[in-house]
Amino acid sequence: MTYVVITFIVLLFLNIYCSRVSQQLFNRSKEASLIEKCDFAADEIAGLEVINTDTVAELIDQMDSLKATRLIVTDQSGLAIYDSSGTAEGTYALLPEILDAMSGEGGNDAFSWVYQEGTTHSRAATPIVYYGTIIGCVYMTEYDTTHGALLRSLEITVLQITFTLETILILFSFVFSGSFSRRMRKIMTSMRTIQDGDYSHKLVLGGNDELTILGNEFNALTERLHTSEKKRRRFVSDASHELKTPLASIKLLTDSILQNDMDAETVREFVEDIGNEAERLNRMTAKLLTLTKLDTVQESESEIIYMAPTVRRVSRMLSPVAQTADIRLVLELAEDCPVLILEDDLYQIVFNLMENGIKYNTPGGSLTVSLSRDEENASLTVRDTGVGIPSDAIDHIFERFYRVDKARSRASGGSGLGLSIVRGIVERNRGEIRAESVPGSGTAFTVTFPAFDTEVDRE
Ligand SMILES: Nc1ncnc2c1ncn2[C@@H]1O[C@H](COP(=O)(O)OP(=O)(O)OP(=O)(O)O)[C@@H](O)[C@H]1O
Ligand SMILES: [Mg+2]
Repeated sequence: MTYVVITFIVLLFLNIYCSRVSQQLFNRSKEASLIEKCDFAADEIAGLEVINTDTVAELIDQMDSLKATRLIVTDQSGLAIYDSSGTAEGTYALLPEILDAMSGEGGNDAFSWVYQEGTTHSRAATPIVYYGTIIGCVYMTEYDTTHGALLRSLEITVLQITFTLETILILFSFVFSGSFSRRMRKIMTSMRTIQDGDYSHKLVLGGNDELTILGNEFNALTERLHTSEKKRRRFVSDASHELKTPLASIKLLTDSILQNDMDAETVREFVEDIGNEAERLNRMTAKLLTLTKLDTVQESESEIIYMAPTVRRVSRMLSPVAQTADIRLVLELAEDCPVLILEDDLYQIVFNLMENGIKYNTPGGSLTVSLSRDEENASLTVRDTGVGIPSDAIDHIFERFYRVDKARSRASGGSGLGLSIVRGIVERNRGEIRAESVPGSGTAFTVTFPAFDTEVDRE
């Protein structure tokens, strides 16, 4: 609307300006021609031997070029000697133009002009000068409908152009603002959809203007929001899973202290382990608190450690569970398996794999953990004699929340996160994890890391 009003005002001013300018142009040309005619008549009259009504009438009759709507000739006192309409003869024609023409030393050319409804009305007067003396005045008027009509048609044409332009503008504004607000509504709807949590929504605007750019930016923003929301959810579930491991250990240790008759030395050992677990829990919460970004721990915190002690620690932790489930734990540990990793990370890997090996085993079965190394790598293998994993499921077990046998897994408190976290940690530490399984007879998980003998390797 503002746009339309502003252009309307501008066009209106242009209109008025055009009409003024064209009127002035007509005025000038009219002035020049009428004054010229008056001058000519004045010269001719001044050349007459005797100036009276008859001689002047005769002169004017002879001269076609002096035809005007009205022509009055006065003497120096303003008394009309001749009037083409005949009405003013013998009276004083004290018209403003005549007075003006005869004022001053040698007189003036006087002109006035009125334009009204298609007619121009011009009046001109010039003095009749005879050897430097004003002896009378010639006054002419002209009603001109041709020029007036021309002016009028010019005005009308300009007005028509104005209205046509304004109509086009209004139509254009309607179409444009209609499409603009339709697209704005689309953006608003998309915003609400995203607000309701549907991050997969995509805004399709079409076109190729600023709104399209805005739409693309909006989509990029939504994509980012979606990613960070996914990361947040993942972080929350991963964090709680990580906290579950030491808590489960503490529970196991306290249970075994309470259930078994132990000598003071073993109790001491177990309580020490509980202390260690609490310590680990402490480190984890500190780590979670410092994770301002949802990224993983910095690699620089890793150190070169041997895998065997960690495996032993986990095995001691899980032995009461294995006993309860009637699973035999077998350790075949090569001592010389150094890897570059955080001890807590290694603990997570071993714990999750061994816990699965016990959980998805059958009573009377066994769980063998072996460590070995060659020139380049150090490997950890966790092999059980349990239920196994069907071949169509083995590709999915590392996916988050994937569980082969939902009922069994749920009964054992599984959430399907353990293996995905293990794979995350392994890959973060440049390792590899593989699973092989024969359904019904057992599964083996093999984790391979590059072996780091000295700090030099690390460089
Ligand atoms: N050693 C194994 N033998 C047979 N099946 C296994 C074994 N390890 C894992 N699985 C299968 O893979 C699935 C995913 O294991 P994962 O450790 O990720 O989850 P979970 O043990 O169910 O729960 P969580 O470890 O989060 O408590 C398990 O639900 C189970 O079906
Ligand atoms: Mg598990």
